[in-house]
Amino acid sequence: MQHASTLAPLTARRSGPLKGRARVPGDKSISVRSLIFGALTVGETRIEGMLEGEDAMSSANAMRALGATLERTGEQAWRIRGVGVSGFAEPRAPLDFGNSGTGCRLAMGAVAGCPITAVFDGDASLRTRPMRRILDPLAKMGAETVEIRDGGRLPATLRGAVDPIPIVYEVPVPSAQIKSAVLLAGLAAPGTTTVIEKEATRDHTERLLRLFGAEVAVEPHGEGRRITLTGQPELAPAQVRVPADPSSAAFPLVAALIVPGSALIIEGVMMNPLRGGLFTTLMDMGAGIEVLDRRQEGGEDVADLRVRGSELSAVDVPAARAPTMIDEYPILAVAAAFAEGTTRMRGLKELRVKESDRLAATAALLTRNGVAVDIEGDDMFVHGNGRAGGGGLVETHMDHRIAMSALVLGLASERPVTVDDAAFIATSFPGFVELMRSLGGELS
Ligand code: S3P
Repeated sequence: MQHASTLAPLTARRSGPLKGRARVPGDKSISVRSLIFGALTVGETRIEGMLEGEDAMSSANAMRALGATLERTGEQAWRIRGVGVSGFAEPRAPLDFGNSGTGCRLAMGAVAGCPITAVFDGDASLRTRPMRRILDPLAKMGAETVEIRDGGRLPATLRGAVDPIPIVYEVPVPSAQIKSAVLLAGLAAPGTTTVIEKEATRDHTERLLRLFGAEVAVEPHGEGRRITLTGQPELAPAQVRVPADPSSAAFPLVAALIVPGSALIIEGVMMNPLRGGLFTTLMDMGAGIEVLDRRQEGGEDVADLRVRGSELSAVDVPAARAPTMIDEYPILAVAAAFAEGTTRMRGLKELRVKESDRLAATAALLTRNGVAVDIEGDDMFVHGNGRAGGGGLVETHMDHRIAMSALVLGLASERPVTVDDAAFIATSFPGFVELMRSLGGELS
């Protein structure tokens, strides 16, 4: 659906050292999943630390439209009374997932296991993103795509299966969203549903399904994993504590690395190894990041990160690391601009189908600001020389991570950097601008 929006330009200027303590919002992947899994559970689920950004809120609205009861009981605290596996009611209007690919694709999986028909839609960005990768395996499970726009784009009408069929599915591209959609449809199927992934992707679905009482077995399979779910479980309500989102922590973290003299502590960041590729890469580049007070929160490892302004050097990032940092390449490219030498990031094909074509948008954001970039096939080369000229106007293409990456660049570049529209930052990181200002960032 087209959201009426007035462009909200924003400019970042070279700032003095960033100092202080920061806590970033709850993890987007876990927030969206806990809303959907809670809606599939009979009884009362409670969520703390919920990301109250637009992406999670569009999933909350969709779950309401499908018959679940969701209430906000306090700051970042939510209560859900679900309808049970296969218990969704047919929604009266199209489900609008706004900018959220995760919400839309996971909900498709959940709807596929219910005997209802639902229309899925989203904003202009989500309407450009491929949906066949989800709907094809769901068709094997008995869910029919009644209507879809050319090229497998939204809006799409999905008729869920009356008798869902369990399948064994090898995911063709590394994607936690495809894996999760198949597993969610598998909840409604008798017997076992198996997903094979050649490269391991984020495992929040597996972990959370277990927390809600499902039986999920995970075995190594070559370089990847084989995940087997026992269908038709009685999901039990859970208490979910959402840890801080490492993909959001990446922005103040890289800002502190590239603004000389900075010293920040970012609190309670989720350290799931399948989300940790950016931290590994930055440490290889010589980043001053200390991992403090490792502990468990809500079934995930978390830690405080102490970050200092650092001299960075270029690295070669292997393609095999991409699934563990797929959302972090735009901000890594900004760090690479301030490193000495050419950083090569390999195997970025999936970046072309994110909230924007992130390969093109990242290259444009850097070149507009005087940083040399090349793209060869699916690899990006950033030619860093410890500085960026800045002075550019960056088109964000409705992409929150492009907007935040450009603004972080502006905090350390010689001339200011302006983004055409900062509004989409609210999809994943409400309070980003206020937080960066409170640490000393000049944003206006
Ligand atoms: C997500 C998976 C990733 C990621 C997205 C969130 C998830 O997408 O880019 O922001 O929560 O499962 P793919 O699984 O399609 O790579």
